[in-house]
Amino acid sequence: MPDPRQSRSAVMQHPAEPTGVSVSLSGLAAGMPSMKRPSSSTEAGPIKKAKKVASTTGTGFTAQSSNAFPMDATIKRTEVTSSSSHLNKRSDQCDGLSVRQCLELKYRNAKGESVPYTRSDLRYDLQHKRLELVGGSKASQPAPIAKASSPLVAAKQAAAATSLSGGVPLHNGIVMPVVGFGTYKMSNSDVVQPVTDALKAGYRLIDTAQVYENEKGVGEALRNSGLGRGDIFLETKVWRSSHGYDRTIKACNQSLRKLGVDYIDLYVIHWPGPKTGWPLPRGPEAGAIGVTNYSVRHLKQLMKTCKIKPMINQVEFHPRLVQKELLEFCQKHGIVLQAYASLGSGDASQAESFFSFPPVKVAAKAHGKTGAQVLLRWAMQKGCHVVPKSVRPERMKENAGVFNFKLSSAEMKAIDALHTGTRYAWKGLDPDTVE
Ligand SMILES: NC(=O)c1ccc[n+]([C@@H]2O[C@H](COP(=O)([O-])OP(=O)(O)OC[C@H]3O[C@@H](n4cnc5c(N)ncnc54)[C@H](OP(=O)(O)O)[C@@H]3O)[C@@H](O)[C@H]2O)c1
Repeated sequence: MPDPRQSRSAVMQHPAEPTGVSVSLSGLAAGMPSMKRPSSSTEAGPIKKAKKVASTTGTGFTAQSSNAFPMDATIKRTEVTSSSSHLNKRSDQCDGLSVRQCLELKYRNAKGESVPYTRSDLRYDLQHKRLELVGGSKASQPAPIAKASSPLVAAKQAAAATSLSGGVPLHNGIVMPVVGFGTYKMSNSDVVQPVTDALKAGYRLIDTAQVYENEKGVGEALRNSGLGRGDIFLETKVWRSSHGYDRTIKACNQSLRKLGVDYIDLYVIHWPGPKTGWPLPRGPEAGAIGVTNYSVRHLKQLMKTCKIKPMINQVEFHPRLVQKELLEFCQKHGIVLQAYASLGSGDASQAESFFSFPPVKVAAKAHGKTGAQVLLRWAMQKGCHVVPKSVRPERMKENAGVFNFKLSSAEMKAIDALHTGTRYAWKGLDPDTVE
């Protein structure tokens, strides 16, 4: 892990921000309700009726009735996310047309027949006016690994999420999954299989970073997954070597290229510092923006001048480091606290000792759960989002088993009491010491 101690100066720079910017981003595309669903379709699962998110700016995860689907919307950009050979090169023929007109177009399928696009081939990203060609159907194509490209379902709070597709709307309306998948310490070549496995297991948020040097591998896994771009929530971070607005833009573009995508769902500043480059790229490049490793002091400093508040703050948070003040500050200001190192940190080899804490063991026994599940559930019930990392499919599955039980307030308190203020990540360095 690079040494963040080099950040020293006392002044944070926040260049003037353009006003009136909506950073809301759709995730997804609904289906085409007015189209008949083909019987031989490889279309990913039924269209779920997601809970409507009040007062959001069109997350695209909301109601998907035919009324809500913009058949007359003009398509700005078409993106092929399918590995199907007949859709494997970018098709611009839909660009500039309405969705309705595009559905009338024909293309050559795997058998060489001229057929119209169908609901199984198309997905429309409301916010980006972007059409995804995802399907291609027909048996000669490999089946998508994850059957259901289910839309994210909005819940009011982290603990109310009911699956890996369950998310909470950030303050700009974008729904972010509560339980994501971490990729720290995996190289480009190491990361492809675990992210593939994680997507197969149903994880929808993948957390990577410029400094992890694995964005290329993450992108490869996304493309291989058979999922549409809009089904996946990508979070990446700008490292301190790219602080400063112009450098940050450059880094963001590099990340887009490495990931092989045309937008990032959540772009965050990895480490506080004097010239962080706030505001971060947003709009077409990033749906939401945030920070990581920011203390209350850093947040207050940033919020003095910024017009767009960070939407999340990803920080170390576990029973040994219950960051109560920071959590309360974030909650008060509508900033989601995304916990990392929930299981003891990949840095410190502490995972086993977390599982052996008596209150964790007692709760695990009482609920018929594992220590890892209790630790993650505890964080969720505190109001945090989590991004557990594992290279093992059985553990990925285990870490996803956190939606069907509830810790009692006595169990929560007993785990809270384990707090010692110990940090395991970043060699124990408290980011608050960075100016
Ligand atoms: N913003 C930041 O500065 C920052 C810093 C650190 C981490 N993060 C992010 O947060 C993610 C999570 O943090 P982390 O990777 O440090 O730690 P973690 O999720 O707490 O995982 C710690 C270790 O626990 C093991 N593990 C996972 N599931 C398990 C289970 N069910 N039972 C037993 N052991 C299990 C994993 O080993 P195996 O892989 O061998 O299963 C992993 O190495 C990172 O991957 C990264 O995306 C961000």
